[in-house]
Amino acid sequence: MQEDGISEKEVLKILGLSRRKDLKYSDGKILSSMCTMPHIFARKVYRFFLETNLGDAGLFKGTKELEDQSIKLLGSLLSNKDACGFIVSGGTEANLMALWVARNKAGKEKPEVVVSEGAHFSLEKASNLLGMKLIKARNKKDRSVDINDVKKNIGEKTVAIVASAGSTEYGTIDDVEALSEIALNEGIYLHVDAAFGGFVIPFLRDLGYEVRKFDFSLRGVSSITIDPHKMGLSVIPSGGILFRNRELLKYIETEAPYLTEKVQHTILGTRSGASAATTFSLLKLLGKKGYRDNVKKCMDRTILLYNELKELGMDVLKPTMNILVFNHNKADIISQKLAEKGWVTSRTRSGEIRLVIMPHIREENIIQFIEDLKDILKR
Ligand SMILES: Cc1ncc(COP(=O)(O)O)c(C=O)c1O
Repeated sequence: MQEDGISEKEVLKILGLSRRKDLKYSDGKILSSMCTMPHIFARKVYRFFLETNLGDAGLFKGTKELEDQSIKLLGSLLSNKDACGFIVSGGTEANLMALWVARNKAGKEKPEVVVSEGAHFSLEKASNLLGMKLIKARNKKDRSVDINDVKKNIGEKTVAIVASAGSTEYGTIDDVEALSEIALNEGIYLHVDAAFGGFVIPFLRDLGYEVRKFDFSLRGVSSITIDPHKMGLSVIPSGGILFRNRELLKYIETEAPYLTEKVQHTILGTRSGASAATTFSLLKLLGKKGYRDNVKKCMDRTILLYNELKELGMDVLKPTMNILVFNHNKADIISQKLAEKGWVTSRTRSGEIRLVIMPHIREENIIQFIEDLKDILKR
């Protein structure tokens, strides 16, 4: 590090050069990401709360109220006005907190957690950090978890089951209703990872799509991950973890002797109040209608792309939400050629091409994508 600082102008020049190397959602070519441009209002609010720290919530009582209000609003969206929880850094931290509660609540030696083979890799991190054995149950043909295989994998040491409601790769929703019954019968903690689907599924139902139940309306569900920084249009970092009731928090309570609040329940100490305030603002600004319109826009474009891909003879899976997966015997070459034309797509673990139709993907982008794909197929 140099002795004397340089001018703001010079620093900005360096930043500009770096930023130019980044891809931009606004170009409409990023089809691999579950994040998008934050809502324009979110940018203003975030700046206003930059100094707030919810790790020392007694100093920022107003901001803490906004976090509590966000959780209340998300709870009502997920059929539980009494839910409690936190705005955290993302789905990874939220899933880690859920398994942390589950492990401590059960208090078993060599604890195990059963997830689907399509579960997000954050659960691998969480189980590794918590010293839990991760057991993967098979998926069925429709890419939701095979309930019979979950049952087979439950044993004496099982402390948790994790369901996906909006799997990362396919957007499929597990049969949470059946998993909830199992959880109740066996006395096992059930966590639902709706990091992506939490801001989609409730609105899909309103829009007339048939979707499975996945939330606290199912009595066996103990916690849900729902991320404002994905389809919630909030800033990064904004994740959400909701617990069915406050009782569950006691399993992760840590004393914080020299701070304004004497106990903490989050993994992070110092943590962003700006994320909570921004999430609250968007929930109030957009309301259910705003989020429903957002989901409708994404779904209309997803269906348009689905129909076009089918027309091209692609082996494309019927989408549950705004995630499309298609296959082709030359998928490797196709994805490489798409990349050469500037498209950022991703691949599932099975090698299919995966597209996430986020709000930054406009209709003209889809038309261009299909044109480019036709061109690639011709060659
Ligand atoms: C279903 C699901 N869970 C968890 C995560 C992890 O979220 P984050 O990257 O915000 O930590 C993701 C990320 O895409 C996800 O799709």
